[in-house]
Amino acid sequence: MTQQQWTAVDRYITDLLVPPDPVLDGALTASDAAGLPPHNVSPNQGKLLLLLAQIHQARTILEIGTLGGYSTIWLARSLPSDGCIITLEANPKHAEVALANIARAGLADVVKLRLGRALDTLPQLAAEGHGPFDLIFIDADKPSNPDYFLWALKLSRPGTLIIADNVVRQGAVIDATSEDPNVQGIRRFNEMLAAEPRVSATAIQTVGSKGYDGFAMAIVTATESEGSTFDKLYEKNMTLA
Ligand code: SAH
Ligand code: DHB
Ligand code: MG
Repeated sequence: MTQQQWTAVDRYITDLLVPPDPVLDGALTASDAAGLPPHNVSPNQGKLLLLLAQIHQARTILEIGTLGGYSTIWLARSLPSDGCIITLEANPKHAEVALANIARAGLADVVKLRLGRALDTLPQLAAEGHGPFDLIFIDADKPSNPDYFLWALKLSRPGTLIIADNVVRQGAVIDATSEDPNVQGIRRFNEMLAAEPRVSATAIQTVGSKGYDGFAMAIVTATESEGSTFDKLYEKNMTLA
């Protein structure tokens, strides 16, 4: 199988099931014209995000990594009228392009963009009392994925759906000796998903116009406090030795 075939089949699927959309197509054109890297999810992956958010009936969404707002617009379109998506972006130029795309999509009231490094803005969100979110999409710098997962857990409730992009990396993810910090960040993230008793997770490989990659998905099954040793002891009316 070749990239050419994956791209052709993605085009077939997209032509059938993801009709041309002036707003979404325009967001990609504007992002490209502004020199943003083509790191957005593909159209059929964007629609998958929309469907997952709809299946989950998400009202509040957190996205880490906005770029030009392409995945943001897909996710925002899943929301009911009283819903809201907060999206985090470190690069001011990306944020500017995204805000224009989001405004053209008529979603300026639904999308709140926070400019800044996510490891700075996530604690701010928590301190301001945001969350728990119904759905959290992790798609920023991959070396920080282990930290983003811990923040996602903090901003979750039982039932929160956590999705992470780019967890296969053309198969490089299985190379334990890789010196690529992106691969190491994803490997550590996947290991945390495996070890974390508060989530039930899986990952799927994807091929298509964006090459060979994958999505990880986790559902939160218990809160931090439900899982903590302190609470277990407290429930049993015991004291810490
Ligand atoms: N979700 C987007 C693609 C995001 S690409 C889509 O599918 O359309 C990754 C984005 O994360 C880039 O815009 C990059 O600037 C941003 N990013 C990188 N490091 C970051 C950080 N530390 N905090 C917040 N955003 C970051
Ligand atoms: C790339 C792709 C992504 O989906 C992403 O979030 C970041 C980078 C890439 O192709 O390099
Ligand atoms: Mg991505």
